[in-house]
Amino acid sequence: MERTFLAIKPDGVQRKLVGEIIRRFEAKGFTLVGLKLMSVSKALAEEHYGVHKERPFFPGLVEFITSGPVVAMVWEGEGVIAAARKLIGATNPLNAEPGTIRGDFGANIGRNIIHGSDAPETAQTEIALWFTEEELVSWQPTLMSWIHE
Ligand code: RTP
Ligand code: MG
Repeated sequence: MERTFLAIKPDGVQRKLVGEIIRRFEAKGFTLVGLKLMSVSKALAEEHYGVHKERPFFPGLVEFITSGPVVAMVWEGEGVIAAARKLIGATNPLNAEPGTIRGDFGANIGRNIIHGSDAPETAQTEIALWFTEEELVSWQPTLMSWIHE
C-alpha cells in the first residue's frame, strides 16, 4: 500500500492547526501509520530540503523549519501521495484553491503550513529520513470495507 510523508511546519503547529489537518486526512479515508512532534535539527532540515540547496530561499527555509515544533507523519492509502498534494494545495497559498489546507489557512509562500512528498521516490526517501522502521505501525482500520470496494 502506498505511503507518503507529511510534516506540519512550525506555523501550522503554532497556529493550532494540527487537529484540523489530521482530521482532514482521516476524514478522507487515509490511514495514519507514523506520528511524532519534534524539533528539527539543521542537518535534517538541510537534507530534507537538499533539492533546493542552490535556491535563494534555502537559508530562510532551513531557518524556518528549525524554528519551532514540527509534526512529522506518515499516511497510507491508495494514491495517497498525489491525493495528499491535492488536499494540501498549491505551494503558494495565494494560488491554492479554497478547500485545500493552504487555500483555507495560508497567505504567504514562506508560511504554507504543511509539507507533502511530491512523488513515490521522494516519499520513500523522506519516510526513511524522518522515521525509523520501528516508529511506523502497520494496521488495518476495521472500517476499510466502507472506504474501499
Ligand atoms: P513542500 O516541499 O514544502 O511540500 O512544498 P512544495 O513541494 O509545494 O514546494 P517546493 O517547490 O518543494 O518548495 C519547498 C518550500 O520552499 C518554500 N518556497 N519558497 N520564496 C519562494 O519562492 C519559495 N519557493 C518555495 C515553500 O515554503 C515551499 O513549501
Ligand atoms: Mg516540495
